[in-house]
Amino acid sequence: MLEKLTQLREEIKKALENATPEAIEALRVKMLGKKGEITAVLKGLGKLDAETRKAAGAAANELRDWAQTQIEQAKSAAGADQLEQSLANEHIDITLPGKRRGVGRVHPITQMYDKLEQLFLSLGFDIVEGPHVETVYHNFDALNTPPHHPSRDRTDTFYFGEDFLLRCHTSPMQVRIMETQQPPIRVVVPGKVYRNDEIDATHTPVFHQMEGLVIDKNVNMGDLRGIMELIAQHVFGNGVAIRLRPSFFPFTEPSAEVDVACYICNGKTKTEPCRVCKDSGWVELWGCGMVHPEVLRKSGIDPDVYSGYAFGLGVDRLTSALYSITDPRLYFENDVQFLRQF
Ligand code: PHE
Repeated sequence: MLEKLTQLREEIKKALENATPEAIEALRVKMLGKKGEITAVLKGLGKLDAETRKAAGAAANELRDWAQTQIEQAKSAAGADQLEQSLANEHIDITLPGKRRGVGRVHPITQMYDKLEQLFLSLGFDIVEGPHVETVYHNFDALNTPPHHPSRDRTDTFYFGEDFLLRCHTSPMQVRIMETQQPPIRVVVPGKVYRNDEIDATHTPVFHQMEGLVIDKNVNMGDLRGIMELIAQHVFGNGVAIRLRPSFFPFTEPSAEVDVACYICNGKTKTEPCRVCKDSGWVELWGCGMVHPEVLRKSGIDPDVYSGYAFGLGVDRLTSALYSITDPRLYFENDVQFLRQF
């Protein structure tokens, strides 16, 4: 018995020399686990006669306590070794210069949307978005656009088959809103629109609009003009002059273009010709008008009870006007030097 204990002690001593944490744990199980060798000796004590049991019991308990301490010590020593080693391997040179992370910023078009949304929220408008793939019905027919209208041309608009297209303006959302909601309606619709235009200094096939729609009892053109003025002043500052110039859209009657005083020459007498306003002193920024009674009727709203106005803000143009940007391609080129300015 005592011989067996001595043998186990030797075995433990040997096993603990330079042992890894895994080997130490294996040894603990082998010796002190439920079916461990020392455990077995302790269990066997009961079978011995009283005399032998006393001495053997003391020795076996002493061995167990000793083994426990040895194993624990070996474990923490091995752990410390590992920590030291990984500290040595993974050490960081804190004198090296850091890597600077580029800080992004909000795109100027998005900034303009944010600015406009802030105004419309303060006026009690809702903000909704609509599908970019539209039905021909919502994009044209429900907006009173006759079959021969040039914007319906396959070369001007991106079609998917006969009945679907990439919306060429945000106006189809006027229809979708009126189809599902009775007045009073006060809503703006931000979003991208698509036209099959060659890219040049005034056209990009994708650009940005914000549709506005107000329908209620007794809404008139004076209300429209007031809001148009508010938009211009919110974007360009108080005191900016606007004018409503008669125009045509199939879905509004009467219709108008909103011009603001030229942001380059301000319409003053000039020594050299102004290439932005072509010397007219005004820059065309967006379209608007009183919603056509036929459009109200088609969308389920009684034109004898309700009236309203709509407008389609050209967000790229507003941004260009605000910052005197002369080429809309810059918005899409991801040129960080350009974008950093805003
Ligand atoms: N949808 C028109 C366009 O894209 C703009 C517009 C909107 C005009 C609403 C009048 C009313 O040119």
